[in-house]
This record gives sequence, C-alpha cells and structure tokens, in this order.
Amino acid sequence: MGTEHVRLLNEAVSGAEVGAVFDADTARAESVAARCDARVLDDPMVLIKDEALDCVLVASSDGTHEQFVLSALAAGKPVLCEKPLAPEPAACLRVLAAEQEAGQRLVSVGFMRRFDPGYCALRGELGSGGIGAPLLLHCIHRNARATSTASSALISGSAVHEIDIARWLLDDEPESITVHTPRASRQAGGIQDPMLLVVRLRSGVLLDVEVFVNAGYGYDVRCELVGETGTVSLDAPSATVRRGAGFQGRAVAGDWRDRFEEAYRRELQDWADAVRAGESSHAASAWDGYVATAAADAGVRALSSGRTEEVALAEQPVLYR
Ligand SMILES: NC(=O)c1ccc[n+]([C@@H]2O[C@H](COP(=O)([O-])OP(=O)(O)OC[C@H]3O[C@@H](n4cnc5c(N)ncnc54)[C@H](O)[C@@H]3O)[C@@H](O)[C@H]2O)c1
Repeated sequence: MGTEHVRLLNEAVSGAEVGAVFDADTARAESVAARCDARVLDDPMVLIKDEALDCVLVASSDGTHEQFVLSALAAGKPVLCEKPLAPEPAACLRVLAAEQEAGQRLVSVGFMRRFDPGYCALRGELGSGGIGAPLLLHCIHRNARATSTASSALISGSAVHEIDIARWLLDDEPESITVHTPRASRQAGGIQDPMLLVVRLRSGVLLDVEVFVNAGYGYDVRCELVGETGTVSLDAPSATVRRGAGFQGRAVAGDWRDRFEEAYRRELQDWADAVRAGESSHAASAWDGYVATAAADAGVRALSSGRTEEVALAEQPVLYR
C-alpha cells in the first residue's frame, strides 16, 4: 500500500510531494524513494519530527500503526494512517486520547471506499429519498487469494471495510454481530473461508457481508441497499464489455489497488488539500477508526463463540461531540 500511495502522490495528486521514506526493509524504501526523488531515512521517529515534512502517511504493518500515529500527534502533524488505526480497541483509544490532548483532529484513517465514486453515488441516492428508508444492506467482499493465514483476518482485514462503509452510508452505529460459518472451501488452506457476517445497526437496519478471500477469480466487491420503496446497488466498475468466441463479459479487478485506484487518489488529494488549508480531511477520523476496530473485535469474538456479540463503544471524546 505504501508503494501505491507514493506512486499516486507522485503521479496523480496535485500540491503534494513525497519528501522522505522509511521502511524496516531498507531496499524497499530505496526502490520506492528512487521513483519520486525522496530521501530515505533510517529512523522513523526522525522522519516524523523532520521540520521539512508537513505531514505523515503510515502504511506499515497493522501492529506498528499506533506508535507512528502517536509520534505524529506528539509532533503536532496531520497523519493519514492506513486501516486499521490499530488492531486493538484499547490502542485506538490511546490514539483518541492523544488527539484530544493535541486539541485538533489530526488523524485520518484510510477507509478509502468513502471516496469511491460508486459508494458516493449510492449515498447520494439514499440522501435523495428515492429508495425510502433503508432496511437492509447486502455486501459481498471477495478476493482472488487470501493475504493472511488467519480466519480472523476475514473480519479484521476485509469485512471491516463494509462495517465502515455501512456506518458512513447510513449514519448509524453497529450494535451486535453474528458470524455464520458454512463449509470451508478446500482452496482455503485450512482457514474458515468463506463466512457470512450479520451486523445489526442501532436503527434496526441489518448489514450482511459475505467474505470469501480465496474466491479464485478476482477481487469482487458488491453492495446493494434495500429501502422501503426501492433498492440501489453498485454497478460493475469496468467501463467495457468484451465479446468473443462464444463469450461476453466484463473484466474483474485483480485486487483492491485496481478496483479502488480512483478512491485512493481522491482520498490522497482530499488529505493534501486539507493539510495545505490547515483543516481536517473528509476521510474517516480516529473515532471512525476506533469504532471499526471495536466492531471487528466483536466480530472475531462472535466467530470463536458462535454467538451474537455486542459492540460496546466508549464515550466519544469532547473533540468529536
Ligand atoms: N485500505 C486498503 O484497502 C488497504 C489494502 C491493503 C493493505 N492495507 C493496510 O496497509 C498496511 C500495509 O499493508 P501492505 O499490504 O502494504 O503490507 P506489506 O506487508 O506489503 O507492507 C508492509 C510494509 O511495512 C514495513 N514495516 C513493517 N514493520 C515496520 C516498521 N516497524 N517500521 C516501518 N516499516 C515497517 C514492511 O517492511 C513492509 O514494507 C496494513 O496496515 C494494511 O492493513 C490497506
């Protein structure tokens, strides 16, 4: 993801420049930096404090996010952190406390679907009242091949995107989660894949998510919102239909970088514009990052208990009231 963000910042975002790069894998940092003429630093904390840099983007492994975001807050800098804000709800609360201490909303979280033209249009349709009051949100999240060997990653790494987008689309909060487990695919290497999550939102709307990360054929994300007087769904993202030799069809994205390239670009442009203006971005906030992690945590508990688990949320910090 870091490589992709640097590429987009360099090629497709105006008013932003990548000044320095750090990665625990120095060769990787060097190859990324060479493409955009950035410095390679050998200490992430030195990079974060560097006065020549206005803001920080964190795209390292999940477990490292908290320390880097806390350091950016201590330096008073805006920080865009890839999802998850942190893998544990308690770590997200520590970030929220530090942001409250800093006195400004400096943290953005990379739930990029909020910038996808399809999801934005879907939200607009709901807002226009054309489908009436929402009742159900059906989602599918399929990958060609799993990127993790843990069953819990289907919830904390994949379905967490649907949990965030449901909150954003419906302006609602998750109340409880149940995880249903069909027979596992023999292509899944021993993990529970696929699975079906049912999330009850506080308004009574139900969100269901099929997660299938060894679907084989590609990266396929679908979403249909059912209202009292109609439905609205994402259309196929490809702009063309190919026909030939007894076949007619649309290409399927290889992974999230293909499918959501425009969303990542818009997310980065919005962040760059916000940093230059000294304002908060329109991306998911540290609070949104906390709620997503708390809901995913309840989902992982539901997977192991086989029961419906409540999503218990802490009180919102004053900064968010
Ligand atoms: N928004 C999305 O759609 C999306 C998609 C994929 C990944 N992600 C998130 O992006 C992050 C990176 O995922 P990825 O797929 O690029 O993983 P990756 O394993 O390909 O890359 C992680 C990088 O972090 C580096 N790293 C590890 N520990 C570090 C440390 N202490 N300091 C600095 N660098 C360190 C590794 O060397 C590696 O280069 C993860 O948090 C992941 O959840 C988000």
